[in-house]
Amino acid sequence: MATFDILVLPGDGIGPEVTAEGVRVLEAVGERFEHVFNFEQDLVGGAAIDALGTAILPETIEKASKADAVLFGAVGGPKWDNPNASVRPEQGLLALRSGLGLWANLRPVTAVPALIDASTLRPEVIEGVDLLVIRELTSGLYFGQPQERRVVDCRREAVDTNYYNEDEIARIAHLGFQTARGRRKKLTSVDKANVLASSRLWREVVVEVSRDYPDVELEHVLVDAMTMYLIRRPRDFDVIIADNMFGDIITDEASMLTGSMGMLPSASLGALGEDGLGLGMYEPIHGSAPDIAGTGVANPLAMILSAAMLLRHSCGLEDEARAVEQAVTDVIETGLRTADLAAPGEPTLDTRAMADAVLKRLGS
Ligand code: IPM
Ligand code: MG
Repeated sequence: MATFDILVLPGDGIGPEVTAEGVRVLEAVGERFEHVFNFEQDLVGGAAIDALGTAILPETIEKASKADAVLFGAVGGPKWDNPNASVRPEQGLLALRSGLGLWANLRPVTAVPALIDASTLRPEVIEGVDLLVIRELTSGLYFGQPQERRVVDCRREAVDTNYYNEDEIARIAHLGFQTARGRRKKLTSVDKANVLASSRLWREVVVEVSRDYPDVELEHVLVDAMTMYLIRRPRDFDVIIADNMFGDIITDEASMLTGSMGMLPSASLGALGEDGLGLGMYEPIHGSAPDIAGTGVANPLAMILSAAMLLRHSCGLEDEARAVEQAVTDVIETGLRTADLAAPGEPTLDTRAMADAVLKRLGS
């Protein structure tokens, strides 16, 4: 019987509602497969700002670093929206990524046949889409220094720095190639090498790393063209690697290929042990959705699928991960829908009822 310590950071908006369902699913997995999950909960984002005056406490990051995995809800909302405030909810998320060294963000996008009509794109374009974006998460424009606002000659100016070194690029490239090897053996590297020095280094290092993986087909695509190809021919992509900023942008776009953001999980990973496992942070990509927070109608499936990624990448429980994913596929194929997925007039389930349906298929 294995024991796992999970730090739960529900955050803001619908974060707490969906995180509660992720925890229930992990508890059910524990019961059915005889594992013990110990949960501890803490504050992050706006919730932490209100209670503590800061988006995350150093002690919380310390606790996270000692856990086997972090289950993260969402941060942000109109209450803390002032861009000039010195404390912002997002700082909690960025401090976790950087403090825990979670440099790779995996965002799988798979078209679910039963949901194809929920997409704004034509069915023939998105049928069969199965791609994985690996976004660099602890460098680039998000963390490069200087990052500041200043006044020079009585005029306001601001600067961000898109810093990358070769090691940061090489580890993402290796992960991209290795992951592609286990899939359809195609890697697309996204950059803006026609303009940016950081992108030219990115491309150079990716080409160097590619020599270790002659069996994987490599292509380079400029980020502006990529946004176009993603909606024109998304089936052509297998594994995609991108820097922090470009990865942020193209993953929101890619999420629309499935019909609803409410279905998409993510994993943020750092150094992995010899067994291929390591500390990871798992979160749905949909964000805090303040417009529906507190109404109990949020779709819990992205969080439940994030819990499946947690089982796979931090606990090494592949069968358990698949059981959760299969349960989600089954409820969707049976026609059960939360409001974000339902066609006009179709009956809908609330957050709790949708999670109950998954739990029932998990056999608990
Ligand atoms: C994401 C989000 C975050 C990011 C925000 C909330 C800081 O958009 O995880 O994609 O920009 O990385
Ligand atoms: Mg984003």
